[in-house]
Amino acid sequence: MENIKAYIEQHKDRFIDELIQLLKIPSISADPKYKNDVLKTSEIIKTRLLEAEVDYAEICETDGYPIVYAEKIIDPSLPTVLVYGHYDVQPADPIDLWTSGPFEPIIKTTELHPEGAVFARGACDDKGQMYMHVKAFELMMKTNSLPCNVKFMIEGEEEVGSESLEDFVKQNKEKLAADIILISDTGMIANDIPSITTGLRGLSYVEVEITGPNRDLHSGLYGGAVANPINILTQMIASLHDDQNRITIPGFYDNAEELSLDERAEMAKAPFDLEAYKAALNLEDVHGEEGYSTMERNSIRPTLDVNGIWGGYTGEGAKTVIASKAYAKISMRLVPGQNSDNITKLFSDHFKSIAPKSVKVKITPHHGGTPYVSPIDDDGYKAASLAMENTFGKKPVPVRSGGSIPIVALFEQELNVKSILLGFGLDSDAIHSPNEHFGLFNYFKGIETIPQFYKYFTDLKK
Ligand code: BES
Ligand code: MN
Ligand code: MN
Repeated sequence: MENIKAYIEQHKDRFIDELIQLLKIPSISADPKYKNDVLKTSEIIKTRLLEAEVDYAEICETDGYPIVYAEKIIDPSLPTVLVYGHYDVQPADPIDLWTSGPFEPIIKTTELHPEGAVFARGACDDKGQMYMHVKAFELMMKTNSLPCNVKFMIEGEEEVGSESLEDFVKQNKEKLAADIILISDTGMIANDIPSITTGLRGLSYVEVEITGPNRDLHSGLYGGAVANPINILTQMIASLHDDQNRITIPGFYDNAEELSLDERAEMAKAPFDLEAYKAALNLEDVHGEEGYSTMERNSIRPTLDVNGIWGGYTGEGAKTVIASKAYAKISMRLVPGQNSDNITKLFSDHFKSIAPKSVKVKITPHHGGTPYVSPIDDDGYKAASLAMENTFGKKPVPVRSGGSIPIVALFEQELNVKSILLGFGLDSDAIHSPNEHFGLFNYFKGIETIPQFYKYFTDLKK
């Protein structure tokens, strides 16, 4: 423990510099313009892993972006930890709202990060959190304290659905054999309230297109007599929730697992301050499904949200027009029991059924994902809990998250290995938003906690 702290103290500046170098590269997987940057990022990670003295590291080519794989096998009879993370990032838009360049990392203090935070796209999701693992590994190697085997699998397509990783996992089951998968790509409650993520929601994502007349029309000459696709689309979307904010798609909740009252009471023990929550978002009130708390609404309940909607004239001034088409991107977050393909089909059937004859509907499904819940009584959770208790001085609380990492359910299905979601970000770190950042406290706490996880996990397996 003292060794670990001393090593971090001694190499602090370099650990920050190396992260900053990574954050300077715009590895945006969604936009082909950044292809070379995404590829360059994978090369740097490979180099950093080699410098940290893995046995070998390789760039595994796929149909999409490559997967960086590396391993250090010290003794095949010891447990193996498989580290997963991603080196791709979300697009930075809207750029105007960043107070400094998204790929010009700088350190600033904030109310929640008085010790400073690195501001850049990917700082928290997931370059900063992924890189904690590379530095924790370096630290264990240099201080002669690596207690077990390690494998690294760092992908470049998480933000666009992990399609290539899916094939990679299916084709490399032996190579990826492990006792536990360790992931830092989630958050915790607060810097003085450690928590471990025990669940992720699944995802169905669709794009809808409503077509009215075959061309844009003068809204005076035709208005009132033909369907306006934007009017229709917004009516259809509005009807997807009832007055209790429940989703109206028939069958949507059929297989959604309900938590028992006991489980809900247990959940309610996790610290949560509704007034602070509202204040942080500048909201007069929250909004959501009746009968559930805010914490429940954003973790154990399924949702439907419009992520984008467009059509017609949005330029300067006024143009009197009835557009031919209107579009929306709609995501549904799923809970255990719900199946992504099934929900996508229920949505599509229902959405088509509520459209009037005056328009045509086209629905394009995007990526989906299966929900995941992890046990809190296995060695993985116990090791994570002991590790955090050790470094934070407080036992962490289990919390189910509202976010999704679709590949985690696939790991379990294909590799039969559970994942531990040991995240160090805060909800307020603005992932996917302008001014994303990651606290230096969190970065170093992660680097300090990860070796503890290895130690406790190896001990528990003995
Ligand atoms: N790391 C996030 C997911 C996350 C963040 C889970 C915080 C829990 C807490 C991941 O990179 C992400 O953004 N996932 C996407 C889904 C993906 C298919 C694009 C999401 O949740 O929207
Ligand atoms: Mn992520
Ligand atoms: Mn993300």
